[in-house]
Amino acid sequence: METGDYFESYEDIGIHKLMLEDAPRNKAYRESIHDNKELFKDKVVLDVGAGTGFLSVLCAQAGAKTVYAVEASNVYTIAEELAAENNFSSVIKVVNGRVEDIELPEKVDIIVSEWMGFYLLHEGMLNSVIEARDRFLKPDGLLFPESATLYSAPCSIPSLYGYWQDVQGVSMNCLASKLREQASKKPVTEIVASDDLLSDAEVVVWLDLREVTCDDIKSIEMRHVAVANKEGRYQGICLWFTCTFPSVQTEPVTLSTEPEELPTHWKQTVIVLPTDVPVELGTPIAYDLSLKQSPENCRRYIIEVTMLDPEEVEHPEYCLCHMTKCILVRAMFEKYDKEYVGDAERDKEKGDDEKEDEESTEKENAMNLEEEKENCEVDNDGGED
Ligand SMILES: C[S@@+](CC[C@H](N)C(=O)[O-])C[C@H]1O[C@@H](n2cnc3c(N)ncnc32)[C@H](O)[C@@H]1O
Ligand SMILES: [Zn+2]
Repeated sequence: METGDYFESYEDIGIHKLMLEDAPRNKAYRESIHDNKELFKDKVVLDVGAGTGFLSVLCAQAGAKTVYAVEASNVYTIAEELAAENNFSSVIKVVNGRVEDIELPEKVDIIVSEWMGFYLLHEGMLNSVIEARDRFLKPDGLLFPESATLYSAPCSIPSLYGYWQDVQGVSMNCLASKLREQASKKPVTEIVASDDLLSDAEVVVWLDLREVTCDDIKSIEMRHVAVANKEGRYQGICLWFTCTFPSVQTEPVTLSTEPEELPTHWKQTVIVLPTDVPVELGTPIAYDLSLKQSPENCRRYIIEVTMLDPEEVEHPEYCLCHMTKCILVRAMFEKYDKEYVGDAERDKEKGDDEKEDEESTEKENAMNLEEEKENCEVDNDGGED
């Protein structure tokens, strides 16, 4: 998608409707902003990519002095109407333009933005937030959200396999294989049931938005040696993200798009594998994952998965897989735990008992002393009488 097409796509209010109907998304922003009103009170805020102005109104409600609502597409006119409808025309200043091209009369205390795309990085809007941060945010300013994490885990994709084996008694595997061929060409956006994840998730990348640079997100690579935590069929790699917001007193709010949480409009992203591999509890699953910003279009990432032979890669130090080398290492760890940690705990317990004995002896001595003292005082009193 070229930049022109990108902003044109946001002129379709259907897209904004989809985002504004995403309850977990809206709630995370509202809670993080409204639960931290003291951070917003009388502050200057920049809303990068304000769209219809929803986040700008939340900031104004939280007491912001000025909100610069910057929006490149024509939808900025709705942001102006929304500000008026909510009686914040004097607080919200809508600026039509790319945040990279505009000027502001002052530095801002807070940047608010909903920049996340599918698998976090699609759309490349984070680059615009980074540029806005570097140009407009005060040195001790805050970002809402302030960090983001991308995760991956191997998964099954029943909608591309099992379903087609028996559609009302008709076997449709030939169609299923064509659908898979099509799906394996680019990542699929789909709701993945948490039961279809085959292992614990691994962090692909954690981004501290106060520090991350455009260079940091050009290319992201990770190796995951996962261990199947159930029997199933390994058919794809599932990606999802979480974002965390700053907070003063309350628990920081996290917006999560993981399969276990309520679905969001981002759903999950699945990279469909060309093969269908059966796994059982303890089977190691190894892959390299790389996300590279396309040199032709920075709004797109080229995602590649390389399936690896688990025999040929290094496993985590304490790996729960069923390969002999990992079973042996685990046995060594367990033996060490029993012998040394067990001894240390016993020593500690023994030490505690001895300490207790010492303490009770000290207490007894102290009580004896007290008694002696009392007797002495009684004797003294008696003596004075
Ligand atoms: C994901 S939408 C979020 C809209 C709104 N903030 C909300 O939460 O409902 C992103 C918006 O940012 C705008 N946008 C993206 N990049 C921008 C840039 N560099 N400068 C200004 N607006 C931008 C898009 O046109 C789109 O309306
Ligand atoms: Zn292993």
